[in-house]
Amino acid sequence: MSPVKPETLISEDAIKKRIKEISAQINQDFAGKGTLVLVGVLKGAFIFLADLSRELSIPHSIEFIAVSSYGKHGADSGAVRLLMDVREDIEGRHVLVVEDILDTGYTLDYLISLLRARNPASLSTCVLVRKTERVQVEVKIDYLGFDIPDVWVVGYGLDYAEQHRTLPYIGVVNP
Ligand code: IMP
Ligand code: MG
Repeated sequence: MSPVKPETLISEDAIKKRIKEISAQINQDFAGKGTLVLVGVLKGAFIFLADLSRELSIPHSIEFIAVSSYGKHGADSGAVRLLMDVREDIEGRHVLVVEDILDTGYTLDYLISLLRARNPASLSTCVLVRKTERVQVEVKIDYLGFDIPDVWVVGYGLDYAEQHRTLPYIGVVNP
């Protein structure tokens, strides 16, 4: 563990409260539409997906997908590579992509194109935090947790060099 404790940007309570609001909206929007397929984007979304899914009262299944970007920090270059695919056939299914953070937007843009080509009944996105100043490509976000400034955030699944993922809040580090 790093000796420096990241400064709080979004508290554990604020995250909990927002997830309850988002999940209530998802429960309402997908009521009566069959089993919703949640696709968590590894690794960063694993904690968000765990908490969000446990607030859902509608039937849902859990899938994971993993991507990596060629850029040094995130997908600055815009080149995204698929590391691990979902295991289920999503054709004709309602799909919700669950992502930790939208930075440039290249990652989510890539995932939307990839999954849309498989003809799901619907494809929606749920993103915990968005760096408004950094967005390079217009990506449709259906459910958003928080907008944040252009700072490097850690905790609640997010890392800096694989550190701080299990902090219960979202904090800021100065690398
Ligand atoms: P994109 O730039 O929107 O494609 O985001 C690429 C990926 O970079 C995200 O999915 C995160 O995994 C990572 N990332 C971007 N900004 C941060 C940050 O502030 N903290 C931790 N990970 C980040
Ligand atoms: Mg990510």
